[in-house]
Amino acid sequence: MRIMENRNPTALDVGIDRIGVYVPEYVLPLDQLAAARQVPVEKIHVGIGSYKMAVAPPWEDTVTLGANAAARLFAQGDVRPEEIGLLLVATETAVDHAKPASIFLHELLGVPSNCRTFELKHACYSGTAGVMIAADWIRSGAARGRKALVVATDIARYDLHSSAEFTQGAGAVALVVSEQPRLLRLDPISGVFASNVYDFWRPLDRREALVDGKFSLDCYLNALDRAVADFRASLNGQGGEPLPPRFAALIYHTPFPKMAYKAHLRLFENEWRRAGGDPGELAAAAERSYTEQVEPTLGAARIVGNTYTASLYLCLAWLAEQRGRELEGRSLGLFSYGSGCCAEFFTGQLVDGSASIAPRIGLEQMLQARRELSVEEYEAFARGAAGDLSDAQASFCRFAGVRDDKRLYERTGALA
Ligand code: CAA
Repeated sequence: MRIMENRNPTALDVGIDRIGVYVPEYVLPLDQLAAARQVPVEKIHVGIGSYKMAVAPPWEDTVTLGANAAARLFAQGDVRPEEIGLLLVATETAVDHAKPASIFLHELLGVPSNCRTFELKHACYSGTAGVMIAADWIRSGAARGRKALVVATDIARYDLHSSAEFTQGAGAVALVVSEQPRLLRLDPISGVFASNVYDFWRPLDRREALVDGKFSLDCYLNALDRAVADFRASLNGQGGEPLPPRFAALIYHTPFPKMAYKAHLRLFENEWRRAGGDPGELAAAAERSYTEQVEPTLGAARIVGNTYTASLYLCLAWLAEQRGRELEGRSLGLFSYGSGCCAEFFTGQLVDGSASIAPRIGLEQMLQARRELSVEEYEAFARGAAGDLSDAQASFCRFAGVRDDKRLYERTGALA
């Protein structure tokens, strides 16, 4: 057992080396949905903060979304499937109760057979659970120089005509976690909070999630308070100063953009009071901080919608791609929340050189290339009908149907 000798695992330089993002090629403008549902459009644009939502066609599921995200990651170069020794898929849109989505990705992506692989579930938190497991696997020395691939992939579905319908979305983010990361170095400490609450859930026999909407907001904000308190405790008394000024940006799990606004105001207010700030200046200071530190993270979320496990990392990808140059070398604060619930507040730094890598994510270009659906086409997709669009093809692979109770996937493009 000499592996860990002379190693201080927490001192290792570990983090996110590469990000690949994939969203379905279909998008529904929410002003059209608001008109169809007779909801004032301001409620959606201002009250919720959303403009469009990604819609998964019937030939896409969490396996294809995730595999397409990973294929886009490998297409950036520098990381090859042969280097992966741990493949984790985080989702709350599982395709089977027993067979993990990760084993489909394992085959589709050509990952080596001596790779540990499994699926993770804790609502939207499990993407972060995967990142933390992967980082610890590397810090422990078990990785032996190999890298982890963590794929967060989801389709947010609520009942048609429900108030949550406007907060749907779909997409996947693939993350390579490694030593000497070229994008985001992760700090070894974080703050965690877990508690059994019924704010959002999806019983085994249901395709659409159930949610206690207003309660879910309270659970999210309470989990933020408690995870941040735990983070502070893990600092062991070092750094009593307020948290927001320490970060160039704060990235929140974003089920809808207004939630990130509410979260930041909560965090900012707590920290302001803690530091004995002037109550009369609180509101203006909080708005200023939101505009500078949070708003730049939300561009993709406003036009993709909720991607559950991938949401936090979609915001990270957008920030890195859009603001990489000015943020290089600077610290980020990240808050992950999964209903049910488990939450984690953690931090990292965009490493030197990351600004030249981030544009390869190609997120903005992909979002601009999407095809807009009518409300009728969106509703047909929700019923599982492909209609006239059934010839459309995903970039790397697609769901090819079920035969003998087995799901089939086919590759439609090469892995670069
Ligand atoms: N003009 C401008 N704003 C308007 C308006 C108008 N005409 N009408 C309403 N609004 C505002 C409201 O004032 C409200 O803003 P505030 O919250 O700042 O007061 C906002 O629009 C939403 O209005 P309602 O609260 O009346 O909305 P609703 O009943 O339709 O429900 C919701 C909103 C609870 C978010 C619902 O969409 C929902 O249940 N979504 C899914 C659950 C969810 O995302 N929860 C988040 C926390 S849980 C989590 O994070 C895990 C996860 O990913 C699911």
